[in-house]
Amino acid sequence: MRRNVIRIAIILGILAITLSLHYMILPMPAWLHQALHQADLHRRLCYIPIILGALWFGLRGGILTAAVISAAVLPLALRFQGPLLSNADFVEIVFYFAIGVLAGILVDMKDRERAKKERLEHELESAERMAALGRASAGIAHEVRTPLGSIQGAAEILAEDFPADHPHRPFFDILSEECRRLGRVVDDFLDLSRPISLDREEVSPGALLAAAFEAVRSLAETRGVRLELQGEAGGRPLSLDPHRVRQALVNLVLNAVQSCSEGGVVRGSVRTERGWIEYEVSDSGPGIALEDEDRIFEPFFTRRKDGTGLGLPLARQVAVAHGGSLLARSRPGGGAVFTLRIPFAETREAPP
Ligand SMILES: Nc1ncnc2c1ncn2[C@@H]1O[C@H](COP(=O)(O)OP(=O)(O)O)[C@@H](O)[C@H]1O
Ligand SMILES: [Mg+2]
Repeated sequence: MRRNVIRIAIILGILAITLSLHYMILPMPAWLHQALHQADLHRRLCYIPIILGALWFGLRGGILTAAVISAAVLPLALRFQGPLLSNADFVEIVFYFAIGVLAGILVDMKDRERAKKERLEHELESAERMAALGRASAGIAHEVRTPLGSIQGAAEILAEDFPADHPHRPFFDILSEECRRLGRVVDDFLDLSRPISLDREEVSPGALLAAAFEAVRSLAETRGVRLELQGEAGGRPLSLDPHRVRQALVNLVLNAVQSCSEGGVVRGSVRTERGWIEYEVSDSGPGIALEDEDRIFEPFFTRRKDGTGLGLPLARQVAVAHGGSLLARSRPGGGAVFTLRIPFAETREAPP
C-alpha cells in the first residue's frame, strides 16, 4: 500500500515536470528552452511516466498514465492548424497509448506467468512433502506388520492354555481379533502405498461380483439387508486380476451394506458392452453427503466409527490399474451408486 503511494507520487512528479516543459511553466534560460524543443525532449520525456505506470500497475496503469498525459497535451494538439499527420502532439498521443497498452500487456503477461510458476512450485513442494510422508508411513507400516503377526501368533498359542469358559479367554480373543483387524489396515495401507502389479487371468466378470456378494452375505443377513444380484451372472471370461477386482467389489458391497439400515436393499449388476465391463453397486442408504463427495476417495477419509477410510481409495486404485475408473453418485431418491468400469480388449468373438 505504502509502496504504491510512493510509486504514484513518483509518476505524478515526473508527469508534472514533463508537462511543465510542454507548457514552459518552469523558468529557464532561452538557450535551454530552445535546445529542449529542438530535441523534442518535452515530448519524449512523457514516455518515462507511461512506462513506469505500466511497469508498476500493468495494463491499467499504462493506459491511465497515457490518458492523463494525452488529456494534458490535448490543448496543444488542438492549437495546431494543418494536416493531422503533421500535428506532432497528436501523433505523439497515439504513440503514448500504443506504448502504454503494449508495455501494460507485456507486464501483465509476465505477472501471470510468474503467478503460475509460483503456484506450480508450491504444488510441487506440497506433492513432494506428501510423497515423503507417504514413504515414511509405508516404512512404519512395514515395520509394524512383522511384530503384529508375532503378537497374533503368540496370543493364539497362549489362548490354547485357557479353556473356552475361562474368565480370561475373551481377552485373548479380543487380542487376536484386534491384531487381525490392525493387520488388515496395515495390509490395505501397504497396498495403497505402492503401485500394484496385476496378475491377469481369464475370468468371468459376473463370477467376481457373485463372489463379492457371497463374502458379505452373512453380514448382510445379521443386519437385515437384502442382497440382489442382477445381470450376467456367468458371462464369458475376460482378462482381469480376479483377486484385486473381487477385493474392490467386496469393498463397494461392504460399504453399501454398512450404509443401509434394517430392511434396506443392496443391488449389484454387471454389463459387458463395447469394450467395457461395467459393475454397478447401489444401495438404499442415505447416499453420499454433498460435502463428502470430493473426499470419499481420499485415503483415511471415513465417517464410520470403526472405519479405516481405505476401502474406496483401494477400489479406485484397482480400477485405475486396469485402465478403468470408479465413480460415485447419489441417486435423487436417496442411496448411493458406485460404478466401476474396466476396459477389455475384444480378443475373440463372443459365441453366437
Ligand atoms: N454406499 C455408501 N453410501 C454412503 N456413504 C458411503 C458409501 N460408501 C462409502 N461411503 C462414505 O465414504 C467413506 C469412505 O469409505 P471407505 O473408503 O470404504 O472407508 P470406510 O468404509 O472404512 O469408512 C465412508 O466412511 C462413507 O462416509
Ligand atoms: Mg469401506
